[in-house]
This record gives sequence, C-alpha cells and structure tokens, in this order.
Amino acid sequence: MALKDVLQELAARNAQAEGGGGKERIAARHEKGVLSAHERIELLFDSGSFVEVDKLRVHRCNDFGMDEQRIPGDGVVTGYGTVDGRTVFAFAQDFTVLGGSLSHTVADKICKILELAMKAGAPVVGLNDSGGARIQEGVESLGGYAEIFCRNTLASGVVPQISAVMGPCAGGASYSPALTDFVFMVDQTSYMFITGPEVIKSVTRETVTQEDLGGAMSHNSRSGVAHFLAASDQDCIVQIRRLLSYLPSNNMDSAPVLACDDPVDRVIPELDSVVPENSNQPYDMHRIVGATVDAGSFLEVHAHFARNAIVGFARIGGRAIGVVANQPLYLAGCLDINASNKIARFIRFCDCFNLPVVTFEDVPGYLPGTQQEWGGIIRHGAKIVYAYAEATVPKITIITRKSYGGAYCVMGSKHVRADVNLAYPSAEVAVMGADGAVNIIFRGDLKKADDPEARRQELVDDYRSRFATPFKAAELGYIDEVIAPSQTRIRISQALAMLANKKDTNPPKKHGNIPL
Ligand code: HXC
Repeated sequence: MALKDVLQELAARNAQAEGGGGKERIAARHEKGVLSAHERIELLFDSGSFVEVDKLRVHRCNDFGMDEQRIPGDGVVTGYGTVDGRTVFAFAQDFTVLGGSLSHTVADKICKILELAMKAGAPVVGLNDSGGARIQEGVESLGGYAEIFCRNTLASGVVPQISAVMGPCAGGASYSPALTDFVFMVDQTSYMFITGPEVIKSVTRETVTQEDLGGAMSHNSRSGVAHFLAASDQDCIVQIRRLLSYLPSNNMDSAPVLACDDPVDRVIPELDSVVPENSNQPYDMHRIVGATVDAGSFLEVHAHFARNAIVGFARIGGRAIGVVANQPLYLAGCLDINASNKIARFIRFCDCFNLPVVTFEDVPGYLPGTQQEWGGIIRHGAKIVYAYAEATVPKITIITRKSYGGAYCVMGSKHVRADVNLAYPSAEVAVMGADGAVNIIFRGDLKKADDPEARRQELVDDYRSRFATPFKAAELGYIDEVIAPSQTRIRISQALAMLANKKDTNPPKKHGNIPL
C-alpha cells in the first residue's frame, strides 16, 4: 500500500477513535451537562500537550455480537502530557463506548499507563465514568479490574494518584478510586456504591435514592470516601490541576516552588486577638491557618468530612506544606473516629511525598460516648500517633489553646518525633481540665471544707494558673518556645528553612502494621 493510502487509513482510524461512541452519544452527554472523555482530557492537560497511547487498541471479545462493536480505543482514553509544564499520566473512561464498561483491553490500557507513570515518576489522574465490568466478557473483565487494583496498590506512595468520579462507578469498580490518594466527585452527575438502591431494598428493605446513597455530597460529608466536591466537570478538572500544583511528581522528588510575593517574615497582629480569653468560647481555626500561610494558598482537603479537624495543602514562601488542625467550631475540636482517620491518612500522604506537616492544635481530648468506644476509637485514634511517629518529614506543631490528655500526646507532640513545638501564651497543656482535675485529686479535701464550693473554686483557680498554661511544658523542653500569635508565620518559616535538609529514618522493616 502506498504511504499516502496508509496515511489516509491512519487518519480514518484516528478519527474513529476520537469520535468515541459517535456524535449522537456525545450530544446526549452534553445535554446531561457532562463532557466527553476527550474533552475532559483536553481540559486537564496544558494545551496541545496530550499524547494518546493505545488509541487504536480494540477489545478481543467475539461473544454476543461484540465482533461487530469494535471501536478503536475501546472505552478509555489513555496517555500523558503536561500540567503546568510537568508530566502527568491520565486515563478517562468513555461512557459513549459501551457505557465506558471495562473490557480486559480497557484494563490493559489503564495498567500500561500506571506502569509507565511509576517508571517515569509522574502522577496519575483517573477520570472514572463507567457502567462497570463489560458484561459480555465475564470473568476476563473482573481479572482486569483486579489487575488495576494491584497496580494502584503498588503505585501507592510512589507517585500521587488522583481519581475523579464523573459518572457511575459501582460495585468493585469503586475500589480503584478508593485505593488512590484523593477522590473528586462531581455534584449530581456522579455516584459510587458497592451495592445500589435496588439491591439494598431487596436485602435490607431500606429505601434510599441513588444520590443520597452514593452521590457526591454523601461521600464528601458522610462516608469520607471523597475528598473534594466539584460543581461541574469543568470545575472538577480545574480543582485537580490546582491540587497537582502542591504535589511532587513522585516520592523521590520535592513539590514545585512557586514565586511568592507574600513576605515570609510578615507579622500578623490580628492573630493576637483570634483566640478568645474565655477558653470555652469557640473560634474558627481557619482564621489562624489562612492568615499564616501564603495569601490565598490554603487548599482544604476533606472540607465537608469530620469538620472537627482541618487538613489541607498550603504554601509558605512558595513551598508546599501539609496543614493539620483541630477546629474548635465543631465538637469543640475533639478527636473522634472520623477525624482520626482524616488526620492520619493525610499525614501519611504528606510523609510519602516529602511535604512538611504543620499542625495547629486546640483539642480538649477524644470524644466520649459508646458510639465512639464501640466504633473503635482506640484503634482509630491510635492511627494519629502512628502517622506522626513514623513520619520522617519536617514536623512543626503550634498549640494555640487546649492540649489535654492523650490528645496532647498524639497531636504532633515532641514525644512522637515533632521537630519544632511552639505554643501561644493562651496554651493549656495538662492532663485534664482544671474542674475535672480538682474533683479527682482534692475529693477528700473538698469533703472536709467548711465551704466546699469556695474551696473548690480556689483549687480550680490554683490548678489553672499552674497547669493550664504552656509554661510547665516549656520548662521541660516539650515546648521549644512560647510565641506571640503575631509571630506565627515568621517562626514557622524559620523552622521550615532550618529543617529543609532534615534527614531521619525508621528502623528497617518490610512495612509497619498501622491499626486499621
Ligand atoms: C456492557 C454496558 C454496561 C456494561 C452499560 N453498557 N453498562 N455494556 N457492560 N457493564 C452499555 C449499555 O448497554 C448501553 O449500550 C450503553 O452502555 C449506555 O448504557 P445505558 O444503560 O443506556 O445508560 P444509562 O441509562 O445512563 O445507565 C447507565 C448505567 C446502566 C446505570 C451504568 O447502563 C447500568 O446499570 N449498567 C450495568 C451496570 C452493571 O450492572 N455493571 C456490572 C456491575 S458488576 P447502547 O449500545 O444501548 O448504547 C461489576 C463488577 C466489578 O462491575 C467488580 C470488580 C471487582
């Protein structure tokens, strides 16, 4: 065949691949307000940078008339390109081709991308939109899923993996996003569940809508399966690009440093009045975090889940950090099961990818209750200790107010290998609150007192002035410095600069056994 003819055939094949399931199906997607796989990919990558891999690959199934339905590319667009100039790999399931269902060929294409990404040391973004296992292929498709899960697992901690759920993602298919580092969901047009509403109704007689069961808000606020909520496909892609800007390309790399015109030695006078004098009065920890980091740089993760804790990425002097904080506005900032999982998983991500962890602490303790105890708060709460203790990245902790009991130990204390521990003058570092402490240690004394209430108040005031302060901890070296809140940004940036070349290791082992 002459070159001209081959080129013509190539163009025809490429056009067929780019057309996916056809104009009508793409138009139907647009009517639903969602983009096609190719459009999503185009938005994700820097203009013109995307290189498609396996564009002409087809499935190998001949059953149920499938030999008549071979579309080049077969239900997934895979490849690589650049995002803000850095290499990123991606796959986008194409719902217009057999409902984006997963054939073994689709799985092979996704696995190829995951393997290339690991070798090249670049993040992977998976855009999920699929009716699940290609029913016509049976167990071959299931094998394909398992092969993807296996590669997701092997890539975990090697390159950042980001998933977006932009349509259906049901049954075992949801385990691929679940194995990745961050999950985005698009409001109203995506859902994820292991078993759908119909199965639930027939088994448990519960009635629940698809949206309530597995929609974007349910997974962002209730289950914590999703970390980010997007208003539309476009918004989702913009958010993914922003998240990537905080992440290194792989576990041997450091995050990109951005130009920063916010001075690192900026004094923040307004922080001197954020923590209320009455220690039972709540305040918004976002005010302290937002004022401390580079202006506008805080990107909250899990913003709708376990709101008694805050986690997210930010920059100081243009360098990316992970922020962990308690939030006194919700449950007084207590640690519960969900907050423990949220915090521990985030710290472990930061440690995998060389991002320093800065902790803002105001925590009265663990949340009491049978629900928490029977739900395993001991096991879940232990994850926070584990995550801080094993992390070898720079760790800086600032106690803004309460730091009581076990919560003192776990929230990035010196004893779990934090490098720099600071406290505001308003910090209260003690085994328990003054009222509880006096009731226990002076029970006999109070019984004998002529005026027990007056005596109790006297003892509470004495305990508070002696222990509900940062000074005892500072005397012991558990706190390196008590700082004026206005100095927060300066001190953190000095500590980060001092720790920039930190080297620390853990004992040799295959891997640890975090209490799951
Ligand atoms: C093959 C599929 C398919 C599938 C959809 N299609 N799902 N083809 N295998 N799993 C095809 C449809 O036949 C249709 O083809 C086209 O995709 C669009 O589907 P519609 O049903 O018209 O779209 P919609 O009304 O939007 O409904 C979407 C849907 C529904 C809710 C996802 O298609 C659906 O329920 N599909 C089956 C879901 C499922 O049971 N999957 C297997 C789950 S088990 P035409 O030619 O008409 O356009 C599983 C196990 C994984 O996934 C385990 C991993 C460990």
